[in-house]
Amino acid sequence: MRSSGSSTLAEAAPARRVKFLDFPAQFAEERDALIPLIVDVFARGNFIGGDEIERLEDELAHYLGVRHVVALSSGTDALIFALRALGIGPGDEVITPSNSFVASTAAIVHAGARPVFADVTGDQTLDPQAVAAAITPRTRAIMPVHLTGRVANMSELGALAERHSLALVEDAAQAFGSKEGERYAGTFGVGCFSAHPLKNLGAAGDAGFLVTNDAALSGRVRLLRNHGLSDRDTALSFGYVSRLDTLQAAVLRHRLTRVDDVIARRRVNAGIYDALLERRAVFVPETPLDTFHTYHLYVVQAERRDTLRTWLERRGIATKIHYPVPIHLQPAGERLGFPRGSLPQTERQAERILSIPIHQFLTPDDVAYVADAINEFYR
Ligand SMILES: Cc1ncc(COP(=O)(O)O)c(C=O)c1O
Repeated sequence: MRSSGSSTLAEAAPARRVKFLDFPAQFAEERDALIPLIVDVFARGNFIGGDEIERLEDELAHYLGVRHVVALSSGTDALIFALRALGIGPGDEVITPSNSFVASTAAIVHAGARPVFADVTGDQTLDPQAVAAAITPRTRAIMPVHLTGRVANMSELGALAERHSLALVEDAAQAFGSKEGERYAGTFGVGCFSAHPLKNLGAAGDAGFLVTNDAALSGRVRLLRNHGLSDRDTALSFGYVSRLDTLQAAVLRHRLTRVDDVIARRRVNAGIYDALLERRAVFVPETPLDTFHTYHLYVVQAERRDTLRTWLERRGIATKIHYPVPIHLQPAGERLGFPRGSLPQTERQAERILSIPIHQFLTPDDVAYVADAINEFYR
């Protein structure tokens, strides 16, 4: 028997497929440059430490305009080590948003301190007023998250930190190259970056780094990353193993030379979305004029988000949610003392946010196809 017209329509292949990420395209673009660099690491047989790491640290420091960069094996370790090197631990409180990847809060817990969540503004970053209200005599640091590549309100958060003598530990995992004014995200306090493969500046495995202008602090982080060893045979303290692999350093050194182009292409795509997405369809927070957004993610806030997501999926468009369950509502976060209803803006956004494809390999037609599909859903 022949299938009915409507089911044939429902099963029809979408006109286009728009991937959320495109690692094969990334590899095709960089293959010729990357392979010799990898072969070189093997030929030299230097897999841990060495010049490659130091060069990467110098190049990152030069790019960001900071004095010290410590290459690490993940962004999570950068956050943990930042807190530990600042002497933050049991009895201390750190104010942070709940709408982040779990690692931000996990780092505070691993340092032995207490995470205190403050709500966010419509743009998904820490609300300085909520932060001010959360400060207690135990507060030692503010940890803003530059979520999606959008810089948190650093002028206000910085002023608040200064007024209350608090440290600023920036979770800049998603924000390499983002700026407020002329200053890069991650350079207002101690900056913690992830170079996980998904990031705009990503390695071919886990990777991260910490940036600071404080020589003593960077020295403490160097000890923490390598067993507390000041030289091969002298342990000044008991540390961890969080060295960046030399292979990853070689990959990152190459990708650092390309990162401005990656960011520029993502910004072009964001510009097309900004122009085409109808505001009655979805809410996209404004980007303040004095900031530079690098679009690790492009997030819309949408009514009937889950139905929209299915609608887009049927049209071949991949989407994700960053993040569907805020940390204070995760099973791991239940004991932190922030019940449902305690962070209204964060909780409301969690039901509405949708990350749509923004990667640098999309064509303008791909981006327009996504925007049209979203607009059409609300018509
Ligand atoms: C906001 C945020 N914080 C922290 C991290 C942790 O970084 P990593 O995966 O390199 O440990 C990530 C990475 O996914 C992140 O997105």
